[in-house]
Amino acid sequence: MTEPGFLSTTRTFYDTIATDYADHFRDALETRPLDRALLAGFAEVVRDAGAGPVADLGCGPGHVTAHLHALGVPVFGVDLSSQMVESARRTYPDLRFDEGSMLSLDLPDGALGGVLAWYSTIHTPMDRLPDVFAEFHRVLAPGGHLLVAFQSGDEPLHLARPWGHEVSLDFLRRRPDHIAGLLGQAGLAVHARLEREPEGVDTAPQAFLLARKPAGATRS
Ligand SMILES: C[S@@+](CC[C@H](N)C(=O)[O-])C[C@H]1O[C@@H](n2cnc3c(N)ncnc32)[C@H](O)[C@@H]1O
Repeated sequence: MTEPGFLSTTRTFYDTIATDYADHFRDALETRPLDRALLAGFAEVVRDAGAGPVADLGCGPGHVTAHLHALGVPVFGVDLSSQMVESARRTYPDLRFDEGSMLSLDLPDGALGGVLAWYSTIHTPMDRLPDVFAEFHRVLAPGGHLLVAFQSGDEPLHLARPWGHEVSLDFLRRRPDHIAGLLGQAGLAVHARLEREPEGVDTAPQAFLLARKPAGATRS
């Protein structure tokens, strides 16, 4: 089957910038206490549920995967970009990183206790987000948790020639209420949402939604 154009464009963009992105963002969480607090809360509910490992979907260079691992969460990363996956494996050789797309994961139904989508659904067009969230629902075990982070707003940010590379890509901003509605339609119950003001290099408010596949749900 032919791959949708937005996936090839996204992969090429991140393959091209992988090394610079990894260097730039490796320590990003150190200056973001609220983000760390949310990840700590996510780690705790996932550990308590004991429903399986977490997949960090769109893990990029793996620094957030490694952060969750340090919090005692069984976790592995998945990314569309082979160069991002190689970078993550080089930096964190003891952790597992796989190449793949969150639109069709190579994972059985109900395999995961948690899904983290940390700024990784932001290149999927709105009309394909229901497919992504249906896939999250499929791979989560009943009682499993989802944490999604994205830039809040309406207008996409167009990023051209990052670090001087001849590539460009749209970073799609979303309204938290709209994303919460789509998660609900996919059978994922939203129980927490946070929107924070821009900090440091942020160009928009940042949104975070925590959702859960109900414990009594069927596995897929
Ligand atoms: C902005 S980066 C975020 C990386 C990392 N989560 C972080 O916070 O630094 C977006 C990442 O999502 C990945 N990505 C985008 N669409 C994807 C998809 N459909 N499946 C898997 N990974 C995807 C990209 O390759 C890229 O590494």
